[in-house]
Amino acid sequence: MKILTVIGARPQFIKAAVISRLLRGFSDVEEIIVHTGQHYDDSMSEIFFRELEIPAPRYHLGVGSAAHGAQTGRMLEAIEKVIVELKPDKVLIYGDTNSTLAGALAAAKLHVPVAHVEAGLRSFNRKMPEEVNRVVADHLSTWLFAPTQAAVENLRHEGIADALVHFSGDVMYDAAIYFGQKEPGQLLDRHDLLPKGYVLATIHRAENTDAPANLHCLFSALNAVAEQIQVVLPLHPRTLAALKRDNLLDSAHDNLRLLEPVGYLDMVTLERNARLIATDSGGVQKEAFFHRVPCVTLRHETEWGELVALGWNRLVPPTNTQAITVGLLQSLQPSDRQAIPENLYGGGKAGDQISQILRAA
Ligand code: UD1
Ligand code: UDP
Repeated sequence: MKILTVIGARPQFIKAAVISRLLRGFSDVEEIIVHTGQHYDDSMSEIFFRELEIPAPRYHLGVGSAAHGAQTGRMLEAIEKVIVELKPDKVLIYGDTNSTLAGALAAAKLHVPVAHVEAGLRSFNRKMPEEVNRVVADHLSTWLFAPTQAAVENLRHEGIADALVHFSGDVMYDAAIYFGQKEPGQLLDRHDLLPKGYVLATIHRAENTDAPANLHCLFSALNAVAEQIQVVLPLHPRTLAALKRDNLLDSAHDNLRLLEPVGYLDMVTLERNARLIATDSGGVQKEAFFHRVPCVTLRHETEWGELVALGWNRLVPPTNTQAITVGLLQSLQPSDRQAIPENLYGGGKAGDQISQILRAA
């Protein structure tokens, strides 16, 4: 059986690393990886293939950055050619990026069944490009692997047949367990950081970087928090460009510990040792919980509402400097948390379940 995996952005490499390793264990399954080229800097792409031992993509589409329509359109055209040439039995997609959307559309139009890992997440905000991508990808898929029961419910509410939906648990939990055990070295010493002595921040979401008012509020608040505790921020290239555009880079450099984007193993070390994580990333919110580090999500809403309900995550909208500063400083203090339900993100075996279903189907 031939499975064509379509990936292109940082979080997809991490998720695909889990499943790809397991698919390689099946002698009757051949996985062929297509890299769309959505992310292309070494620190956003190649480093994950090296560190997480993902096989080199057989096809690299080199699409690069562009507006949504142009980027997705170029991917669609190129993926279509690959599918026509290879005739895969299934197309495997991850998450909610433009690469996910292009993979789903190209396959569905050629009547190749689609498997979607991380199906059913919803922010209920259609202004987010990711929400549009998820909804379309889910409705075009034949196998929908939901990371949480809430995701299963979302799919049911949208009328997707129960038979297509599998509560697999979250492959990022598998990744945290599997790769989290690897020791990446003396990272904290190198950056002069003490365990539990810093806040780890990541910002990259379009609604925060494309809106100068939000970006200004967020970085003013992070600068203020840095007067009390070190703030470390591996900078997504989109955010670097936005800080330059809005003349905020110098003050950020003066107050924050800005890093290049780091590899996954270093990121896990930074996360585990942080006193608090402040982020607008989907993946980082959950990793905070996996490593039992409190988290502030700098958005209006989250797809991972269960963590807010349990007290491990706090939503702080990115629209008021004072409120963000107070929200972050308060979250440095211990707070009440609910007992963690069993199997919230599956048992760390999402990858086994997904790979076995894909092989058997
Ligand atoms: C994309 C996803 C987002 C995901 C994120 C993960 C979409 C619509 N968005 O957002 O859901 O959370 O990836 O990180 O698919 N750039 C570089 N080098 C790179 C990659 C990007 O410089 O290797 C810069 C370019 O200026 C580019 C900008 O970052 O225009 C945005 O990149 P893009 O892939 O369009 O969106 P992300 O913000 O990365
Ligand atoms: N990540 C990383 N290096 C970084 C920032 C994030 O390896 O400098 C990892 C992080 O640990 C998580 C994933 O990238 O596994 C999240 O990706 P991102 O925040 O870019 O996207 P999202 O999850 O929001 O789609």
